[in-house]
Amino acid sequence: MSLGGGVDWLESYHITGGKILEGDHTLNGAKNAVLPILAATIVSGRTSRIENCPNLSDVRTMGAILKEMGCKVLWEGDTISVDSSSVDTFVIPQHLMKEIRSSVFLMGPTLARCGQVNLSNPGGCAIGRRPIDIHLSALKRLGVEIHERDGYLECKTKGLVGNIIPLEFPSVGATENTMMAALMAEGETRILNGAKEPEIIDLQNYLRSCGADISGAGTDEIRIVGKNPLFETTYQVIPDRIEGGTILAAVAATGGQVVLKNAIPDHMEATLKILEEAGCNVIREPNRISLKAPNCLKGVKHVVTQPYPGFPTDMQSQVIALLVRSDGSSRITETIFENRFKYVEELNKMGAKIRLEGRTATVTGVNHLKGTRVSAQDLRGGASLVIAGLVAEGDTVVDQVYHIDRGYERLETVLSKLGAEITRRTSQII
Ligand code: UD1
Repeated sequence: MSLGGGVDWLESYHITGGKILEGDHTLNGAKNAVLPILAATIVSGRTSRIENCPNLSDVRTMGAILKEMGCKVLWEGDTISVDSSSVDTFVIPQHLMKEIRSSVFLMGPTLARCGQVNLSNPGGCAIGRRPIDIHLSALKRLGVEIHERDGYLECKTKGLVGNIIPLEFPSVGATENTMMAALMAEGETRILNGAKEPEIIDLQNYLRSCGADISGAGTDEIRIVGKNPLFETTYQVIPDRIEGGTILAAVAATGGQVVLKNAIPDHMEATLKILEEAGCNVIREPNRISLKAPNCLKGVKHVVTQPYPGFPTDMQSQVIALLVRSDGSSRITETIFENRFKYVEELNKMGAKIRLEGRTATVTGVNHLKGTRVSAQDLRGGASLVIAGLVAEGDTVVDQVYHIDRGYERLETVLSKLGAEITRRTSQII
């Protein structure tokens, strides 16, 4: 990571494994809810106060993009206020676009607000190709003309018009972009086969709080009646189910126990079921989840990542880290992203026995992992290396912590409070 002045810095986690984690943790707001909601604030031209925002690098970058587009952005505590009355461009700044893929969520809102949007094609990333063809064909059906030149997209409409939009795959981002663009379309839009993730419902709830006529999120059909006037609002985002699952997996891996506060158990059901299959005792209450790990975790039969309500791809790597020291063997198949097993090589360096065949990983439980130096390649893979470090014998160093900072607010502080021995160290690369 460069901090300017021609000096490069490397941030790493230093972990001494073997501590049993115990205590409680209050979940932060969901990264994947707050990013599209912040993008959506552009549409109303009013002030939206978004509460329960996690302090993450991706969220800060989204704030910086909104500012460059002319919004007044104020961050106080965990509340981000966006006054979008003075948006003065339809160009998404290219240098910031590169930093977060989620800037693609600005397509729909900017089209709704300005009738056009220019942006660079986000292209692939560490976990796969990640095309945006489904976003583009949905926007075309709303009356948007799209020209692509040298990886740059110029999108323009003479007027958005509501339509029936069947998505060929329930893409989270494409569903959100279509919902946001349709806000200013003439007449009614019906999105069929949209994603059903809790973050989609949260986006709908935010938009309704602004006055939008939108319903059906979380079901097979989302219906939007465009051109409703939108107003100022205050809205609180849902808790982060992936942060929650990660903490549960970390605690379970160490044989500990934890109470997650501000959690919505329904949102985490697929993950909770796997933790139970691994032998954990899980208690679901309206706003909290308690977990107690067994003395020895069991392997699980077959975890398959699927769109919600299936098992989330964003929990795949943390669950594998949990299972490396289980009794027996487990199979995990990744169906959503084609390149989400990069961290497996690093776990194997620590003594794990994970065999990859195509999109399926077979984990054979081992008694011990050994601390060593490993490197995070992406956000959730990075979290899995931290979990492995917590249970490894001796010291583990996890490099490239900036990947982890994209999705966890000070993970080292959360884990230290639960009893882990983990510190963040910064070194200078000369
Ligand atoms: C969102 C989440 C991400 C999560 C993912 C799947 C945010 C900020 N990110 O990402 O954490 O892992 O959902 O739950 O909310 N696809 C296409 N064409 C498209 C769009 C998607 O082929 O136009 C493919 C993707 O390459 C991927 C799959 O569909 O293989 C799922 O992608 P999608 O649901 O769109 O994920 P994101 O919205 O990018």
